[in-house]
Amino acid sequence: MAWWHTATAYQIYPRSFQDSNGDGFGDIPGIIRRLPYLHELGIQLIWLTPMYPSPGYDNGYDISDYQTIDPRYGTLTDFKEMLAVAHRYHIRIMMDLVLNHTSTEHPWFKASRQDKTNPYADFYFWADAAAGQVPTNWLSRFSGSTWEWDDQRQQYYLHIFEQHMPDLNWDNPVLRKKILAMMAWWAEQGIDGFRLDVINMISKRIPFGNVSRATPQDDGRAYYINGPHVHHYLQLMNQKIFAPNHMITVGELASAGVAETGEFTNPANHELAMAFSFEHLKIDYTDGRKWTLGQFSLPALKAVLTKWQVGIAREHGWNALFWTNHDQPRAISRFLNDDRYRIESQKLLAIVQFGLQGTPYIYQGEEIGMRNAYFTNIDQYDDRESRNAYAAMRQEGVDTATALAILQQKSRDNARTPMHWNHTPNYGFTTGTPWLQPGLDDPVTVKDALADPQSIFALYQQLIAARPAYPVFTDGDFHMLAPDDTTVMHYQRRNQTAVLSVWANWSGTPQSRRAADLRNTRLLAHNYPDGLQIAGELFTLRPYEAVLLVGKQVQ
Ligand code: GLC
Repeated sequence: MAWWHTATAYQIYPRSFQDSNGDGFGDIPGIIRRLPYLHELGIQLIWLTPMYPSPGYDNGYDISDYQTIDPRYGTLTDFKEMLAVAHRYHIRIMMDLVLNHTSTEHPWFKASRQDKTNPYADFYFWADAAAGQVPTNWLSRFSGSTWEWDDQRQQYYLHIFEQHMPDLNWDNPVLRKKILAMMAWWAEQGIDGFRLDVINMISKRIPFGNVSRATPQDDGRAYYINGPHVHHYLQLMNQKIFAPNHMITVGELASAGVAETGEFTNPANHELAMAFSFEHLKIDYTDGRKWTLGQFSLPALKAVLTKWQVGIAREHGWNALFWTNHDQPRAISRFLNDDRYRIESQKLLAIVQFGLQGTPYIYQGEEIGMRNAYFTNIDQYDDRESRNAYAAMRQEGVDTATALAILQQKSRDNARTPMHWNHTPNYGFTTGTPWLQPGLDDPVTVKDALADPQSIFALYQQLIAARPAYPVFTDGDFHMLAPDDTTVMHYQRRNQTAVLSVWANWSGTPQSRRAADLRNTRLLAHNYPDGLQIAGELFTLRPYEAVLLVGKQVQ
């Protein structure tokens, strides 16, 4: 068993976490100041989203220099101090590395665009126009074509994401060498690992061609998801960088299935420690389309969780467990009740997540139940993906109110609003003007949570501590009971000696189930303060009530 099988991770979105100098932008000294807080929460691993220099078309995922820190966050010296302080708390730190693309401001791209013969000429994907048209009809993940015309080079370049984020050509051995040298440099700085951005896109299927566009999935991804050399490239990184430096890794796998994810994370393949998959966060897409007002269905969620729990165990891989991140709306707003039952809802999510097999990730603000921003005007949004989607929806004839309602439900900015530390202006995030304004007024802050023994924060602390104490969290198998039940989720995990069960009422109305199922169990976590409501043969789960129990295995 590896240390990270029982550990809990925390994702920091640095620009919204804690500002220390009043420029409205979170920074490294701010993170250092909050490390004791994270230690108190009990986490052992931090994922930091990118802090490299970047023109900021995609909040740092468009990197213009891999080997230093963006001055808005601080200096490399601040970074090293942060590492040292974190290590004193036995917290490890993962950097976010974006290897699929760079910024158009990166020196490699600036050189590459000059002509067709320079040493960087094929560090990226360049193509001529096809009959006066873009080279292929693929769709960018940020709306529009994946191809952008470059006047200088008189060719198109490929960008799966935003147009200032050209895709790197990993088939070029010189590029691979430079990237590995850059990763080795980060290892020398003392970091503990990497979160690898859209890592299953780095190998492209050549030659490129048009796609049918018959479904939302026929958008070109067949040419870049899990391409022919992706495992080879990851094995190379593992052999040269991860393994010799004892690094922890988590891959972001876009549109990957269970079998592929198992392959990436099975230790026998020497690739990644674990991976994020997204199928459970697509259950409220309509016909596979994100920018729609979606419906939540509990049986659909159960089916996806079961598929990944059972499937990844069968493939000997490892899941990274999460409900939200900087690319997703807040899960309580999305799937549950972020108003009257907000505390119960967030605790339910924690209980359901921590009972699963994998390494749980808490996204900043989840531990206090932060909810969506509910912006009412397009100008309040900063994110290009959201703004482009809004423009595209309007162009397709979606009315303003509906387009805004869709953004309220699906925009990534919902998770990017400043962290709520206390009740001073801007919730103590900054003394200046925050880069993104806070959402709706909110009574809940870290300060309140720390003063309340029944807080969401306290429940996360309990769950984080329970995982290493009970092996069944790590090695138990998985059974979803009553998969078609539309209101109550009940799953069990069993090993040789113990049974872990989770019950969760995902509805706002009380639900009664058989009390016999609770016999001989110990309550490890609960989101109501006063014990379970048992009456005769039945027990009743109140609105959004959730409980995690552990009992002895009956042979
Ligand atoms: C990942 C990041 C996201 C970014 C994209 C392109 O999905 O998490 O924020 O926009 O990759 O780098």
